[in-house]
Amino acid sequence: MHAILITEPGPADVLAWTEVPDPTPAEGEVIVDVAATAVNRADVSQRQGNYPPPAGAPEYPGLECSGRILELGPGTQDSGWSVGDPVCALLSGGGYAERVAVPVSQLLPVPEGLDLTAAAALPEAACTVWSNVFMTAGLQPGETFLVHGGGSGIGTFAIQLAHARGARVLTTAGSAEKLAKCRELGADVGINYREEHFPDRVKEETGGAGADVILDIMGGSYLADNVRSLNVGGRLAIIGLMGGRSAELDLGRMLVKRLSVQATTLRSRPLTEKAAIVSGVAEYVWPLVADGSIRAVVDQTLPLARAAEAHSIMESSAHVGKIVLTR
Ligand SMILES: NC(=O)c1ccc[n+]([C@@H]2O[C@H](COP(=O)([O-])OP(=O)(O)OC[C@H]3O[C@@H](n4cnc5c(N)ncnc54)[C@H](OP(=O)(O)O)[C@@H]3O)[C@@H](O)[C@H]2O)c1
Repeated sequence: MHAILITEPGPADVLAWTEVPDPTPAEGEVIVDVAATAVNRADVSQRQGNYPPPAGAPEYPGLECSGRILELGPGTQDSGWSVGDPVCALLSGGGYAERVAVPVSQLLPVPEGLDLTAAAALPEAACTVWSNVFMTAGLQPGETFLVHGGGSGIGTFAIQLAHARGARVLTTAGSAEKLAKCRELGADVGINYREEHFPDRVKEETGGAGADVILDIMGGSYLADNVRSLNVGGRLAIIGLMGGRSAELDLGRMLVKRLSVQATTLRSRPLTEKAAIVSGVAEYVWPLVADGSIRAVVDQTLPLARAAEAHSIMESSAHVGKIVLTR
């Protein structure tokens, strides 16, 4: 088969469409014939040599895909899945390829009404947002939710899911155009982080109280302002370090406001935890996709062999939502 290989750590042009050996399914895995995959910021970090795949994961980038089951591996005959089934999947790598081995517990049905291209844009964002914002931070209807980077793949999904589940949604983005798209997706308040100090605006919009849950992609550079922007009992979920990996944490503010800070990365979580997340997504999130409350926000679609171009677009942050790569 062919896959996108990272020939050496570096800029986008180190990605090369290369002939590689076919994957073989391990116990509990199926082979998916990939129709589409989607680009994630983590793929860019992996290409730069800053985010190596966890032990046992395929070496090619790609954290999600859609396609059809080509082969049932050992121990999957009674899994309920059959050869030919259309699926989408959460991966620990290997989506930028013609075929990929996937644990059955990370397969999801293609949500009703979606084609395989749109379905490839959902698993990574859905699993990340569901696990952080709902399973761990426990966002409730009527609470206030702040998501940074509302125009990102993660942000466009988080806005829609939080809105659909009855939260009030605030978001940050770097342009008026992106904020307008965030509002179309259900954001109640858009904050242009280049022009406004977001903690001041969060205070103003919440009558001085702050947000109950924050989903953060910046890490170090936003830590102090995020803690300042939380309501009493607030929960900060950090999933990205685009603004650095360390910063000072004001524990006094945390004690007084009874705050919690969590930081997770989905890719390295054990299979059992990923299985619980995927099954939660199937039960609670997929019906909202099927009824149209949440849509796949696809900025553009490119052929998989042009992954380098897709990475350059992502690094420019010109996109809103996901960049999908098709076979
Ligand atoms: N931990 C996990 O399990 C996990 C899983 C998935 C994703 N992630 C992380 O989530 C983040 C988003 O991933 P993605 O694939 O959705 O990336 P993406 O689509 O490339 O989005 C990145 C976004 O960040 C925005 N941004 C840059 N500086 C900002 C700032 N100072 N304040 C607010 N927004 C800012 C950019 O747009 P503008 O500046 O134009 O607004 C862009 O929309 C990445 O850090 C990724 O590593 C983590």
